[in-house]
Amino acid sequence: MKILGIETSCDETAVAVVEDGHRLLGNALATSIDLHVKYGGVVPEIAARSHIEVILPVINQVLTEAKSGWDDIDGIAVTYGAGLAGSLLIGVMTARTLAIAHQKPLYGINHVEGHVYTNFLTDTPLPGFKLRASQPEFPMLAIIVSGGHSQLALFRDHSDYTILGRTQDDAIGEAFDKVAKMLGLPYPGGPSIAKTAENGDPTSVKLPKARMNKYDFSFSGLKTAVLRQAQALIGKSYDFPSTKLSERLSDVQKADIAASFQRVAVETIVDKAKQAFDEFSPKSVVIAGGVAANQELRRQLAEAIPLPIDYPDPKLCTDNGAMIAALGCFKAQLNQPTADPYSLEIQPNLSM
Ligand code: KG4
Ligand code: ZN
Repeated sequence: MKILGIETSCDETAVAVVEDGHRLLGNALATSIDLHVKYGGVVPEIAARSHIEVILPVINQVLTEAKSGWDDIDGIAVTYGAGLAGSLLIGVMTARTLAIAHQKPLYGINHVEGHVYTNFLTDTPLPGFKLRASQPEFPMLAIIVSGGHSQLALFRDHSDYTILGRTQDDAIGEAFDKVAKMLGLPYPGGPSIAKTAENGDPTSVKLPKARMNKYDFSFSGLKTAVLRQAQALIGKSYDFPSTKLSERLSDVQKADIAASFQRVAVETIVDKAKQAFDEFSPKSVVIAGGVAANQELRRQLAEAIPLPIDYPDPKLCTDNGAMIAALGCFKAQLNQPTADPYSLEIQPNLSM
């Protein structure tokens, strides 16, 4: 069973072929991130235009890499939400057209659920991937930490899950991106905060942790607290503009703020994950989304959770086609309903 997965929910045009839900046969990605850097974030119109330009070459590249023709492909899986409307449209219209033209079943994939399925990839003939040794077992606690989503989900089986908690405002990756902007660090903020934090003292700047219900989180208060502390560090009051902060802060102050913010943001997630682990005793804990690459998160989780956590390859933590194809394989294997290629609509606000 070979599924072609297409992911275009944000600025990455990503395509992959996955066999039987575990073997990665082809994987390619074109990103328009360089075009967005000067704006400090993704510009939706630019992202959509880039998808149009590259999607067909990327699909052809993946088919060649997977040594597959359309006759070898058993189905097409595509992200239909959540994401930027213009970006999603390009992936979905392409997948619909290909499904009709090549008469393949079509599977609509929820982007966030897709992220979790990176953890089911265990082998590949492709060079440069460090995949997990085995697939996770159910019940599985999934910690989903990306630029658009932060949630904890308990999977009893494929497609059978409960969302335990989610962010009530910003996603954790978004908080990294916004704090990076405040400190004048380049986009995307996650890697640049992590790098700057290496030289800082994570306990030097006092920051609050939001108190939320049960398994929910919040990051907007933390972001505001970072702003207030940064203003205080340069001797200014709350009306000093955030856009001028980075010129006044020293490198040491930036490193201390980055390290303290990173510690508290990560603790916010890890505290809840530990609480869920203790309550539900899952057989496996998986982590998904761009922030899974964060080393401080991995360090804190190793301390808090008494199960070894097998991390996916960092290249597959951010948006990719492989996670979409992998989930598509399980949907196909479990005979789940297919999407109508004449009518599958995008759902920009789709939740899990
Ligand atoms: O999953 P993803 O590629 O996109 C969404 O679906 O949202 O996640 C991107 C997010 C960005 O906010 C980026 O700053 C963050 O992941 N990120 C990191 C790291 N690498 C990427 N955050 C913290 N530490 C990192 N090393
Ligand atoms: Zn994502």
